[in-house]
Amino acid sequence: MSAEIGLVGLGVMGANLALNIAEHGFPIAVYNRTAETTAKFHAHAGALASRIVPCKSLDEFAAAIRRPRPIIIMVTAGDAVDQQIAALRPLLSPDDIFIDAGNANFRDTMRRSAEFNGSGLAFMGMGVSGGEEGARHGPSIMAGGLQTSYARVEKVLTAIAAKYQDDACCAWLGENGAGHFVKTIHNGIEYADMQMIGEIYGILRDGLGLGAAEIGDIFARWNKGRLNSYLIEVTAAVLAAKDPRTGSPAVDVILDRAGQKGTGRWSVIEAQNLGVPAMAIEAAVAGRNLSALKSEREAADKIYALPAARLTPADRSAFIHQLEFALYAGKLSAYAQGFAVMEAASREFSWNLPMATIARIWRAGCIIRSQFLDAIASAFPASGRLSNLLVAPEFVGKMKESVPSLRRIVADAANGGLPVPALSASLAYFDSYRLGRGTANLIQAQRDYFGAHGFERVDEKGAHHGSWNASA
Ligand code: 6PG
Repeated sequence: MSAEIGLVGLGVMGANLALNIAEHGFPIAVYNRTAETTAKFHAHAGALASRIVPCKSLDEFAAAIRRPRPIIIMVTAGDAVDQQIAALRPLLSPDDIFIDAGNANFRDTMRRSAEFNGSGLAFMGMGVSGGEEGARHGPSIMAGGLQTSYARVEKVLTAIAAKYQDDACCAWLGENGAGHFVKTIHNGIEYADMQMIGEIYGILRDGLGLGAAEIGDIFARWNKGRLNSYLIEVTAAVLAAKDPRTGSPAVDVILDRAGQKGTGRWSVIEAQNLGVPAMAIEAAVAGRNLSALKSEREAADKIYALPAARLTPADRSAFIHQLEFALYAGKLSAYAQGFAVMEAASREFSWNLPMATIARIWRAGCIIRSQFLDAIASAFPASGRLSNLLVAPEFVGKMKESVPSLRRIVADAANGGLPVPALSASLAYFDSYRLGRGTANLIQAQRDYFGAHGFERVDEKGAHHGSWNASA
């Protein structure tokens, strides 16, 4: 049997992706460094085993795939990818395609793409979102690389991708690092979404004194409305879960120290490199960094010994309703920031990223999936270009409706000593972005005063200097 595609790396993601491909009728050759893993994988593939070609050696693997060979590499991002490429490369023929489907830093993808340029072989960087479940039953796929390479694998990828109604959540987004860049920003937005949900949870837990189950019910209710999304669904589910050992709510026995593997941080670094404000995403990454300072926080907690923060709204249910709108406004602002970063990157790297398509392929399969992304997709004009989602007519109405709640909640949280870094950053982004006359005139004056850096005038073009000493 000649395989339509090959896959290297049978870890959780690789194994599930391979089963997904086989299930959709495509024969697939698989290889893992440890032959035992390959054998076990094949033995447990059930009815799908007949479409899987388990390979003990890379020679066998290369021989099993129809040319030009598309080879998905699903190993830990970083050196392992380069090692795998180096091992396979001598066995391949012109036009064969490496597809790195891990969470690569897009800069590595840019480097690898450049290395393959003119080599006869092709390299694709492909973002895959949706975790284990998505890989098995339908991920969101963000492909980057040569369009001709994508054409070779399009049928397989669209078949295995998640579907939003009938649309496959899979697309070619641009050359070289485009796919991995978009995946990175997806994760940055994911961080902001999760942080803001966490802040709202903090207000409900510490501000109103609600228990996990009650908070879970609120999220479950919200999931039926404007906030409907996978992350809200997950939040409701985890808040409802009990710890089998103690019988307490599971979230109450989990240490408040969040892990991170790097994509959130990369999204912030790239936003900074591009000079694009992404305040809510930055706050979310900072929030995770702060969470890691557990013992320092505990020590500071003792020093300041503040009484437990409590909010006493006159109308509790109206307040909870405001929380829903506040989270919605915060989310709108964070997504606007993420898309603005992608817009700048698209220009910088000449990708011509299809923004509406990106929103469309995030509607299902990925971690930030939601109907809300359908509204984002339609907010982009036919040209696909928009300076910022905040000025898209569809967004303007939604922001006008929900920002007052965000403002109120951020103010109440600040008064109660409850940290809401991402929600307040979302608000600050909105307030700063929609302010025609800001305060940078003063910064320019200061810079010119101490360093003769010059400034522009409001009434005349060109570079100017102030006569600071004369007026002193
Ligand atoms: C996805 C996720 C996934 C990521 C996890 C954990 O889209 O499927 O983004 O790629 O690995 O969300 O990321 P952190 O460990 O950085 O939280």
